[in-house]
Amino acid sequence: MLRESAARNIKPLLSDDAWQALRRLSPQAVRRDLEKARKQVADAERSATEANARARSAEQRLQQSRAGAGDGLTALAKQFGTDKWGSWHHYTPHYARHLGHLRDERFTLLEIGIGGYAREKQGGASLRMWRSYFPKAQILGLDIEDKSFVDTDRIRTYQGSQTDEQLLNQIVDDADDLKVIIDDGSHRCEHIRATFDILYPLLPDDGIYAIEDLQTSYWPRFGGSADVNATFTSMALVKSFLDDLNWEEFTPVDREPSYVQSHLIALHAYHNLVFLEKGENNEKSVNGRRDPAKP
Ligand SMILES: C[S@@+](CC[C@H](N)C(=O)[O-])C[C@H]1O[C@@H](n2cnc3c(N)ncnc32)[C@H](O)[C@@H]1O
Repeated sequence: MLRESAARNIKPLLSDDAWQALRRLSPQAVRRDLEKARKQVADAERSATEANARARSAEQRLQQSRAGAGDGLTALAKQFGTDKWGSWHHYTPHYARHLGHLRDERFTLLEIGIGGYAREKQGGASLRMWRSYFPKAQILGLDIEDKSFVDTDRIRTYQGSQTDEQLLNQIVDDADDLKVIIDDGSHRCEHIRATFDILYPLLPDDGIYAIEDLQTSYWPRFGGSADVNATFTSMALVKSFLDDLNWEEFTPVDREPSYVQSHLIALHAYHNLVFLEKGENNEKSVNGRRDPAKP
């Protein structure tokens, strides 16, 4: 019946060769081929699912490592609501890398910029995060606005400008074993530079100085410039640290190094964030230029 209908309806549409090939097909062979094709499709779907799962797990591992998984600082940032980890900034893994060794130490951390700006009872997220991350540390915060509502055991706030030299001296005088300074204040280039000039000499050796949100270096409304050769920006200051590190390689023997040159031992730069390590920088020049006994 089927064959007769096919001969009547399909044969006229095909060449002789095609019709003979069709006649040779058995229903069992067609079913087998169909089964085989179905299995190939199922295998391909399974492989695609497995590849997707592998990609998802790799993405998760990447996210975890970016978040400094295991260290806990990112979780604390989220818990207390500081933007040191979030859609704009990914600072916490870098902080964990550079400050993690201090977790069980008694020391003082000073952060400029408490948060919340002029909004009443807003801010304090990062100070609370630091207090939790460093269970033995004293946490000091400075803000142009009154943030005294954040004060609690191991958190003390000061109100004033980050360029007020007298106030900065007083804060450092109050601090026991100051080890970390973070500039997360106005982000204005001239402020970042002035604060650094005042505070860096007051930070003891082995201290760490961090500057956040360096993107404003390229923003004119923050006193910055998109001209990467501009000399007045915060990034120009950061770039000068590279030469400062290597001052012995180019400074004439009869010229004394600047304060930063002789007290900077490492610079770690990340996207919009830098860390400076303070210490005595006098490893001596590779070619001996600083040795007056040599020509
Ligand atoms: C980005 S928020 C700080 C955020 C906070 N460190 C955190 O991570 O949660 C910047 C703060 O700096 C303060 N600020 C602005 N100009 C300042 C200045 N000249 N001196 C001190 N603080 C200033 C603002 O009031 C604001 O609260």
